[in-house]
Amino acid sequence: MKDQNITGTDRSTSRNGAFPPGFLWGAATSAYQIEGSPLADGAGPSTWHRFSHTPGRTHEGETGDVACDHYRRWEADLEIMSELGLGAYRFSISWSRVLPQGTGKVNEKGLDFYRRLVDGLLARNIVPCVTLYHWDLPAALDDRGGWLNPDIAGWFADYCAVIARALSDRVSMFATINEPWVVADAGYLFGVHAPGHANRYEFPIAVHQLLRAHGAGVQALRTNGAKEVGLVVNLEPKYPASNAVADLDAAERADHYMNRLFLDPALRGHYPERLDEIFGDAWPHARADLSTVQTELDFLGINYYTRSVVKDDPSAYPTGARPVGQTRAAHMTTGWEVYPDALTRVLTWVTERYGRLPLYITENGAAFYDPPCAEEGRVSDPLRCANYRSHITAVRRAIEEGADVRGYFAWSLLDNYEWAAGYSMRFGIVHVDFATQERTIKDSGHLYREIIASHGGILDGDSSA
Ligand code: BGC
Repeated sequence: MKDQNITGTDRSTSRNGAFPPGFLWGAATSAYQIEGSPLADGAGPSTWHRFSHTPGRTHEGETGDVACDHYRRWEADLEIMSELGLGAYRFSISWSRVLPQGTGKVNEKGLDFYRRLVDGLLARNIVPCVTLYHWDLPAALDDRGGWLNPDIAGWFADYCAVIARALSDRVSMFATINEPWVVADAGYLFGVHAPGHANRYEFPIAVHQLLRAHGAGVQALRTNGAKEVGLVVNLEPKYPASNAVADLDAAERADHYMNRLFLDPALRGHYPERLDEIFGDAWPHARADLSTVQTELDFLGINYYTRSVVKDDPSAYPTGARPVGQTRAAHMTTGWEVYPDALTRVLTWVTERYGRLPLYITENGAAFYDPPCAEEGRVSDPLRCANYRSHITAVRRAIEEGADVRGYFAWSLLDNYEWAAGYSMRFGIVHVDFATQERTIKDSGHLYREIIASHGGILDGDSSA
């Protein structure tokens, strides 16, 4: 992405806001969270299929077997996207639908699903934004060591090549990996996500292989025709709980561990300095070769949900920085603080540290309890509405402060399968009744439609970010 937007068109009706022409308004989802039918048409199982079918791993044993049934209802979902006026749709591809064994023979039926989806998006003038890996590793590859096996960079590159060959004539924007930090932290250090390992010696290995796979994936995508290639990271600014030196230091460690762990290697070619200290003998990467990892990206996707305030506490694993003040508010299912200022900060921080590269907010949103609504056919979600207003205003402020933000994607289009939390958390701007699969655009969805139609203009006067 150089100077122009990837659509080349401006679907907005007004340019009142400070959002640049061509700024992309989208919504995001991921394969395992919405598709259902995980084994249909020759697909192989993923690690999430196995994990969710293992007793005790997810909220009430819930799985993605049905989820939003999007694999079968995708056309109706495209109609909803049109109704919302989305300019872009970010979705991920299930690796094991396309390559049931993770490598080798392509399952054309699986690939056809994404071909149809892309064609349906283009027919509706919605820009498809593809994420190659959003956490659902083919189980067959996990059997071979998954993210711990150095061969995974090659496996991932081959998969990227298959997808780019199939789609790059119609898809401009490809992201390699969604939130690699979560893959390593939740999947290999704490064991709360697939594949469920809790091992401080595996964490550094997984980190390194995720980075090598990203680097190899970028090359494979470009070689096979992808025009815009990026990475998606989740960033969460770390604020010290006080001005005490120990707390300032704890916030820095937490920042290196989470916010810099993938960006420093991917964009600057070195690991953050404090990882050695955090992992001690478990961190083998002091002189790691990152020459295949560091590469110029066409864009960086940032997922932002909250900040964290931390204090020094040597017992807090693994960084010695303990988050404070994140008690679960009654109206919130996640316990995440609503703090839009940190979104502005994230965008300006990335711009200062890594240079003025094109940025997208590839996810932003919140899970609230949607209050019951007396009116038939309406889902009133005032807290989510306020959340969107304040966060999109925070993005606008970052643009005014010099960040090159090219688009914003609401997380999520649909209420969906929230990983280990199952169906207990609703992030959608469209309500899904999981018993009937009925979809209802929430008030936040209607608000977002107005924001899109006015190109952010209806937020004029909002300064509460
Ligand atoms: C992930 C999504 C997830 C969302 C809300 C992000 O970390 O990419 O898959 O649903 O956050 O937790």
